Amino acid sequence: MHQQRREFLVSFVVLVSSAVLPLSARAQDKMKIGVIGSGNVGGAIGASWVRAGHEVMFSSRHIENDRKLAADLGGGARAGTPREAAAFGDVILVAVPYRALPDIGRDMADLVDGKVVIDASNPFPNRDGEIADWAREKGAGLASAELLPGARIVRAFNAIGAARMGSAYREPGVVGMPIAGDDAEAVAIASELIRDVGYEPVLIGNLDKGRYLVPGTALAGEHSAEEIREIAAGLE
Ligand SMILES: NC(=O)c1ccc[n+]([C@@H]2O[C@H](COP(=O)([O-])OP(=O)(O)OC[C@H]3O[C@@H](n4cnc5c(N)ncnc54)[C@H](OP(=O)(O)O)[C@@H]3O)[C@@H](O)[C@H]2O)c1
Repeated sequence: MHQQRREFLVSFVVLVSSAVLPLSARAQDKMKIGVIGSGNVGGAIGASWVRAGHEVMFSSRHIENDRKLAADLGGGARAGTPREAAAFGDVILVAVPYRALPDIGRDMADLVDGKVVIDASNPFPNRDGEIADWAREKGAGLASAELLPGARIVRAFNAIGAARMGSAYREPGVVGMPIAGDDAEAVAIASELIRDVGYEPVLIGNLDKGRYLVPGTALAGEHSAEEIREIAAGLE
């Protein structure tokens, strides 16, 4: 069989399987996820992933908080140091104040390299200092990519309130989630995990579009997937 035809058939089978198989039958259904920063955002999203059947390791600089969170959640939840969480996860969620990203990138360079990293962290100058000015200027997607070299970054969960992140699964797909990323496979994996939290992912573009995935832009706040597509179409 010619190589081209074989590749076509493989793509076709993958496409059909992912369209017709129930989520529970998909290979990535049970994932190992490392959460770095288990506060409002990391705690809520991680809890939804535990609920969806994933194995989640929570981490922060205070492991006693992560241990309590993991014990309260039960199931596939556990606690570790940030390095342990980065090593544990096939996918890593980073949900920390932006000023922590340079240290995380430096301390975990060997662990995040090649991994899918969902980046919920936002740069706020009044909270994070100069690094936030730099990141806002550069755009949060490209800035995070520079701070976490080698990571397959998908920006997501950036500009909606954490308060409803933990209950979005009750109305799946009602609220859309604008995301940006350069790596198609990373985007596909992140998209499934975003659906598990209850949001319908909408890819608005490459990481340079991450500059729109911060509070205060037209995409900020809760919108349906269709509304997000309309807003994104009007962005430069
Ligand atoms: N809150 C929202 O509605 C919302 C929505 C979307 C995006 N965001 C963004 O998401 C990020 C997290 O927000 P949040 O509201 O979840 O904040 P948060 O409740 O303060 O949680 C931050 C978490 O990061 C941990 N942390 C801080 N520095 C760290 C470091 N150097 N290494 C490892 N862990 C560290 C904190 O624990 P320790 O201090 O114990 O280490 C805590 O678990 C922020 O960038 C925020 O702007 C927030």
